[in-house]
Amino acid sequence: MLLTAVAALLIVTPVIGYRPRPDFKPNSSGLNLVDIKYHMGPVLTANITIHPIWYGPWRNSQKNIIRDFINSISAVHSKNPSVAGWWKTVQLYTDRKGANVSRTVLLGEEVNDRFYSHGKSLSRSSIQSVIKSAVTAAGMKRLPINSGSGLYLLLTSDDVYVQDFCTQICAFHGFMLQPIVGYTRLLYAWVGNSAELCPETCAFPFAVPEYMAGFKALKSPNGDVGVDGMISLIGHEVAELATDPLGNAWYGGQEMARVEIADMCEGIYGTRDDEPYTGSVLKGKDGATYNMNGIKRRYLVQWVWNHVVSDCTGPNALVK
Ligand SMILES: *[C@@H]1O[C@H](CO)[C@@H](O)[C@H](O)[C@H]1NC(C)=O
Ligand SMILES: *[C@@H]1O[C@H](CO)[C@@H](O)[C@H](O)[C@H]1NC(C)=O
Ligand SMILES: *[C@@H]1O[C@H](CO)[C@@H](O)[C@H](O)[C@H]1NC(C)=O
Repeated sequence: MLLTAVAALLIVTPVIGYRPRPDFKPNSSGLNLVDIKYHMGPVLTANITIHPIWYGPWRNSQKNIIRDFINSISAVHSKNPSVAGWWKTVQLYTDRKGANVSRTVLLGEEVNDRFYSHGKSLSRSSIQSVIKSAVTAAGMKRLPINSGSGLYLLLTSDDVYVQDFCTQICAFHGFMLQPIVGYTRLLYAWVGNSAELCPETCAFPFAVPEYMAGFKALKSPNGDVGVDGMISLIGHEVAELATDPLGNAWYGGQEMARVEIADMCEGIYGTRDDEPYTGSVLKGKDGATYNMNGIKRRYLVQWVWNHVVSDCTGPNALVK
């Protein structure tokens, strides 16, 4: 289950590494044991702007896979099933006034932290320091401060270790209250490239743990196991930040085992059928597995919880 660390100025909700369980078939009767409910806090109803912070060395080809994904969320002309169609489930969540989550998600300004300003091994608190420096740094390019619906997305390269990475978490999101004098809060998420450390845990199903002898790793849609694996995690975090930015809006479960809308559907990429590990997904002519189209590429992104129908839903659902 999920851990929620609560400290004075910090609340984080991590994504546990998805471990495929051969005996586990996700289905709604099991999921319904947890009920996602609204707790009266804000959701992100204004245009959302995502600011990537590239920590460590990143190739432009890798950045473009991620940039194109972010730019696909509100794109109007992608082929179905689309990333924009996936976001429609997130838009079903409203605040106390009945305003929906924004349909607009924009790629904002970016910065590089190529030389590991806080080292190659980051603790939870140094993650916050990296993000703070990205908005306050003197003498170098810095990110604009948007304490409303700006999302600061820290992306660490495959040679960077983050506390509990691989053993307990693949990514997490949180917020800082009064991070800088004059500003009320900053929303952020961290997602690491697991290619070197634990692709079988954090980039499943593009890599498979040894104990799953019978399951062959699927071919990733953009030829980069680590980055293609990050896409689903980025989708997970952005969906949860939009619907539960301060940990007091849409969630379920017990206080110490909170579950948010993407936690409910981890490892589910399609209609549940005879394929217990992913659900029904698509295969390109090149053999790559995906479940949605972006503006220039294909992606495999987990589904999210739909509170209207009480099930995980996604744009590639099969009509039964
Ligand atoms: C769904 O999950 C529950 C609880 O794990 C299980 O008892 C039930 O048989 C499952 N149903 C289907 C259709 O797989
Ligand atoms: C929000 O985004 C839309 C679409 O890009 C744009 O037309 C609109 O002007 C933006 N609104 C604000 C307040 O920035
Ligand atoms: C807003 O949310 C409500 C309640 O879930 C839903 O019925 C409606 O379709 C949503 N609107 C949009 C534009 O998604």
